[in-house]
Amino acid sequence: MLLRDTPVLARRRTVAAYLYAYTRILELACSWTMVVPNTAFKVDLGRKIGLDGLAIERLTRRVTQMYSTGSRGEAPVAYAQWLDAQCMETDEGRIATFLLATIDDLRQSMRRYVETAHAGDEPTRLLLGILERDLALGRENLAAYAKGSIEGPSVDSEGDTVAYAGTEPLLPIPGFPARPASFIRNAEEAASPKLSLEEAMTPSNMCKSFRRMYIEIEICAIEVCARNIIEYRSMPNAFKVDMSQQIWDEARHAELVTDVVHHFGGNMDALVYSGHVWTRHEMGDDLAERLAIEQLIQEGNSVDKAYQLLKMLRRFGHNEAAECMEWLTADETQHALIGNRWLLRLVEGDRAKYEAVLATANEKIKFPLSPVNRALREIAGYPEWYVDQLERQVEASKA
Ligand SMILES: [Fe+2]
Ligand SMILES: [Fe+2]
Repeated sequence: MLLRDTPVLARRRTVAAYLYAYTRILELACSWTMVVPNTAFKVDLGRKIGLDGLAIERLTRRVTQMYSTGSRGEAPVAYAQWLDAQCMETDEGRIATFLLATIDDLRQSMRRYVETAHAGDEPTRLLLGILERDLALGRENLAAYAKGSIEGPSVDSEGDTVAYAGTEPLLPIPGFPARPASFIRNAEEAASPKLSLEEAMTPSNMCKSFRRMYIEIEICAIEVCARNIIEYRSMPNAFKVDMSQQIWDEARHAELVTDVVHHFGGNMDALVYSGHVWTRHEMGDDLAERLAIEQLIQEGNSVDKAYQLLKMLRRFGHNEAAECMEWLTADETQHALIGNRWLLRLVEGDRAKYEAVLATANEKIKFPLSPVNRALREIAGYPEWYVDQLERQVEASKA
């Protein structure tokens, strides 16, 4: 009790409450990405998750600098209970209204903190300036959905506190994520048709492939990463931060891909989807296999393929689509890198275990090989010996 009631500890209480709030709200938003049908709302949740993930990274770092050996957040009991009470919500209007209320409360609390911060607490003061700006950005996107207003207890209210446990209530994970009633699930039709290069590059087929990319890749990727965050809640905050970064990227990709569809004169009505990215992810028995299936095999593969596609798009004068694809590809290398980082950590850097997980994942999803781009695979963090193996496999498949 040596450190009781000191000014630094009083401030740490508030910073730890912010960390708690962001962590819980991030998890709620992740669970909602799977149950709301509206894909545009999923994308807005994805944008919020990305910025909240960055806040978690920064707050985790700051709280350890305030007489702490590390914290996963701790908040007033009344505040925690208010968050608990929202967990079964599935209505997008009420979800948006709740999220706006938490944003407004956090911003007010942060302003109070900054106004009275001691000169010695400059790192928190500067950090809260950034977080408040990001909260304002997220607010704009959600305001369009909100219905009425609600008020809950403030994140910095008085009273007993409760620490984040990773067992707080959340909606069960659905068998398959919700989709708008006008979308059609059809495993056969959603498969890419075999086209010549000239056929694939016509505006109408370009439109079709970017529509497919939106619903099959980007939206599903938001959902599987959100699922990883809430299904593996005991993973360190750094894992939630990495998954949130990817969710944010996929949300931006969904918007960029939509722009390309509009550029080719198409729209996002009545999308046909198979949901393969979701069902393949589900084939993994644990987090290691799921990362191998999504980030290492599928996204690693798409890095190789997308880079080849860039040249074709430019050759056919589709410069807008090419620029979009290039930004997507750069992000994609990072998704594979995230997969490598956490898989290598889960297998404790053991080559034999890494290979075994990849072999099992490959056996389960039987994803086709594509020519390997060594430079991008290196950026994506694949061990050199693994890239060698991939190259040999591609050669052998040609023979
Ligand atoms: Fe993406
Ligand atoms: Fe991705």
